[in-house]
Amino acid sequence: MTLDPTLRERHQTLCRAIERHNYAYYVLDAPELSDGEYDKLFQELRALEAEAPELQTPNSPTQRVGAPLDERFEKVRRAARMYSLDNAYDADELREFDRRVREGLGDTPYAYVAEPKIDGASIEVTYEGGNLVLATTRGDGETGENVIANVRTMRALPLRIDDARRWTLRGEIYIRTMDLEAINAQRQARGEAAFANPRNAAAGSLRLLDPRVTAERPLRVAFYDLVETHFESHQAMLAALAELGLPTHREERRCASIDEVLAYIGDFDRRREELAYETDGVVVKVDALDQRTSLGFTARFPRWATAYKYAAEQAETVLRAIECDVGRTGALTPVAHLDPVSLSGTTVARASLHNLDMIADKDIRVGDTVRIQKAGEIIPQVLGVVMEKRPTDSTPWEPPTVCPACGTPVAREEGVAALRCENPACPGRLKAGLWYFTRRGAMDVDGFGKSLVEQLLDAGLVADLADVFNLHTKRDAIVALDRIGDKTVDNLLAAIDVARTGRTFDQLITALGIPLVGSVAARLIAERYPSIQAMLAAEPTELQGELAAIHGIGDKIAESVSDFLAGEASRALLQKFEDHGVTFVQRERAVVEGPLSGMSFCVTGTFDRKRDVIHAEIRAAGGTVHTSVKKNTTYLLAGAKVGAKKTEAAEKKGAKVIDEAAYRVLLAGGATAAAPDGEGQSESDRDGETNSEPEGPNVEQLSIKLDG
Ligand code: IVH
Repeated sequence: MTLDPTLRERHQTLCRAIERHNYAYYVLDAPELSDGEYDKLFQELRALEAEAPELQTPNSPTQRVGAPLDERFEKVRRAARMYSLDNAYDADELREFDRRVREGLGDTPYAYVAEPKIDGASIEVTYEGGNLVLATTRGDGETGENVIANVRTMRALPLRIDDARRWTLRGEIYIRTMDLEAINAQRQARGEAAFANPRNAAAGSLRLLDPRVTAERPLRVAFYDLVETHFESHQAMLAALAELGLPTHREERRCASIDEVLAYIGDFDRRREELAYETDGVVVKVDALDQRTSLGFTARFPRWATAYKYAAEQAETVLRAIECDVGRTGALTPVAHLDPVSLSGTTVARASLHNLDMIADKDIRVGDTVRIQKAGEIIPQVLGVVMEKRPTDSTPWEPPTVCPACGTPVAREEGVAALRCENPACPGRLKAGLWYFTRRGAMDVDGFGKSLVEQLLDAGLVADLADVFNLHTKRDAIVALDRIGDKTVDNLLAAIDVARTGRTFDQLITALGIPLVGSVAARLIAERYPSIQAMLAAEPTELQGELAAIHGIGDKIAESVSDFLAGEASRALLQKFEDHGVTFVQRERAVVEGPLSGMSFCVTGTFDRKRDVIHAEIRAAGGTVHTSVKKNTTYLLAGAKVGAKKTEAAEKKGAKVIDEAAYRVLLAGGATAAAPDGEGQSESDRDGETNSEPEGPNVEQLSIKLDG
């Protein structure tokens, strides 16, 4: 069958529009479409690919998130070694570098390009025939690991470029400071360790074996190098990359002399404070590429470039106490309480101690004078103890034996660096959970700061997440809290009311803070189980399998969600949200009109195509998919090997059983198969149904349980 050329054209147009929007959003920071408009394009693309699967290439925007890898990453030997850079720590060292360049180039004039040294993880990507085909980590320089499955999930990176030549690019994958703060807050609220710096976060995200988890990380990239280039200068090369729609840092400056480089370094030291990402220096490169060739490389570094590193600011201060923060999952994280000291423009009174091993290894004690540093890190780090200043009577720090929030004995598991409070009712865990619950991206309740959460808990006004929605009955008690005026309470209660009926179901799922479930996974889960009742009604024994069958949900996430839903307390909590009148708004969806509009299908038996594909085809044609036959299901589409019991049961419910041939007639817009009689399709039955996603099974309607 030949493909209608207009479909191919439309497919290309959609792919381009989506990718152009990704570029505007992630690279230029200047979105041109609303989320709803973007979703519409995406839906149309999905529908088109369901209709014509041959259009679905690995580089379609629909294919960004793939299946988990079962093994380690494939090792790839690269054509040209990835060198690292020599460092210069002051002006003298930089002048020394300049002297060597001048000597190496004889009498020829030369210029530099100075540009930011971004604090992330290096990456090499290859485009061939316009397609992204390979992405490798630095590895040992000569051999890297193929992380294309993860890199593909980055919407900041185009999957296609408008140039068929082979382009091998190098750059830095990074995470913006505010994104890292959000990730860390989320991780800590879930009781997971925070990333110490953007570099660790980026490198860690690239090497995850499950691209679905990588897809949750807001990774960005800036390219700064091209292997086997035909350009004359670095500047021309950077301009060409930007022209192709490839992200670059756009912060470079051409400098005619080392003095100009030093001026840039001075300017950039101020400028870098304003940048959305962390930089730890300036890379200085000879601009002309033929001059680079003549300078060549030492065993480890190019002779034509160096990295000027800004000194990380350090300070000394006295450690007054070591206390443990309790995370949402009960993990205890030690935190140093310090005499306030000024560091890189902020006053620091707390610093991370990472874990118990670090405290033991560095023998950090209360009363010690410690050195702290903030170098790219969000949270200042304790580097070590100034031993000469140790008080003579100090004793080693003893980790707590009970949870500081609830007094439950805490045990340290073998081989694990963290202590964990196992008490599910621990107020410390609840505090972290509540704070996470009300954050932006979760239930997004304005005015729910950390101190308010603390006060509400101390006063016993909330005992679980759902109690947030009962606070309007406790107005007087809230006003009585310290420093909370009438106006503040009114604003807070109004914000809670907005959240009560104004959030999507996936926001609630995100807000629950189920381990491993971020906003992307939450959206997929909410498409499968679109309401609290649908979730509660799901068969506990089958839930994990059902979740894992969702395209985009890995086994680990499925297990985590089903574990959560198996708990009595979690089920009671979900019910409580409903009791407090929490309802959800529908995510905006494209309404598809087509030959199957108004019809609902349940698909069973075997077909020569995947069932997913048939589902997508039905939705693309305007139909609704039911995963089990309900009283308002129009058709049971039966493939091969369907038992009589199943078809009879379906007919009893009023569904008409059709085979694939009859279905094709419907799809073609014909009415050969008996027209749907609409029985059992009252308006109220159809309430809340969308024509684009399956509904979760409903308790009474589970009598026919279909395979797969
Ligand atoms: S040029 C041979 N430019 O810093 C040239 N590197 O050791 C090699 N980096 O791992 C790199 N920003 O990942 C270059 N603007 C920039 C950079 C940059 C960050 C990283 C790079 C490498 C390390 C240098």
